Amino acid sequence: MALEVKNVKKRFGDLNVLDGVSFTVEDGNFACIVGESGCGKTTLLKIIAGIERADEGEIIYNGRPVKKEDIGYVFQDDRLLPWRTALGNIQFAMEMRGITDKEKAKSYLELVGLKGFESYYPHQLSGGMRQRVGICRALVVNPEILLMDEPFASLDAQTRNRMQMELLKIWDRDRKTVIFVTHSIDEAVFLADKIVVLSKRPARVIDVVDIDIERPRDRTDEKFISYRRKIMRCLSSINHAPQT
Ligand SMILES: Nc1ncnc2c1ncn2[C@@H]1O[C@H](COP(=O)(O)OP(=O)(O)OP(=O)(O)O)[C@@H](O)[C@H]1O
Ligand SMILES: [Mg+2]
Repeated sequence: MALEVKNVKKRFGDLNVLDGVSFTVEDGNFACIVGESGCGKTTLLKIIAGIERADEGEIIYNGRPVKKEDIGYVFQDDRLLPWRTALGNIQFAMEMRGITDKEKAKSYLELVGLKGFESYYPHQLSGGMRQRVGICRALVVNPEILLMDEPFASLDAQTRNRMQMELLKIWDRDRKTVIFVTHSIDEAVFLADKIVVLSKRPARVIDVVDIDIERPRDRTDEKFISYRRKIMRCLSSINHAPQT
């Protein structure tokens, strides 16, 4: 049981973005993807979600092509509907799948610490709160696979750390298969079972690192620091490699 990304290639006109990306995430595992800005991470997530088409390659989930219904997507920008409240945005995602359950929508907001903000519109929420609504919206339809595109990038360090812990709590409860894109090596080592390191554009997988540390993880732990160093070296080696 696994999500397999197999030899995915993508060009936008003359721009070669993904150059045969392959990796596997075991069912219920948490994978992080790191790679420099513009290398093709969002494009890859969109292909996995079926929002964008690959030129070549395939996405296989448990032995069959992945379906849109398998996926929950937390976008890099929160993409909430401005004319719907926090609760209304979550209900909208449910309505798209024919579900109406206000109490369930409310319980998800509560889960991410937004009890009391149900009737707030996106412009009345902080960036971090909007991201949390986005996470609820992805989770509420109970997808098998959760794709998250730098969901905590705009948060301050303290809120970010708290959100990472909250996310792990939710993940531990539901054991979704997660693919989480981040620029932060620290965040990747804190969250992931496995880190997929992408090269510069056109992206290829240059390393896959299994993070073998018990959770909850301690950022000051020797092992944590040594994984950080390893990923950092891997990323900086691409930056110093000659461009092809
Ligand atoms: N719809 C599109 N049409 C043309 N080019 C695109 C399109 N979407 C993305 N690109 C290009 O593909 C490349 C990869 O973009 P992508 O958004 O996947 O990068 P990223 O790794 O997510 O970057 P960041 O870390 O900054 O979010 C960029 O050069 C971008 O300009
Ligand atoms: Mg991106």
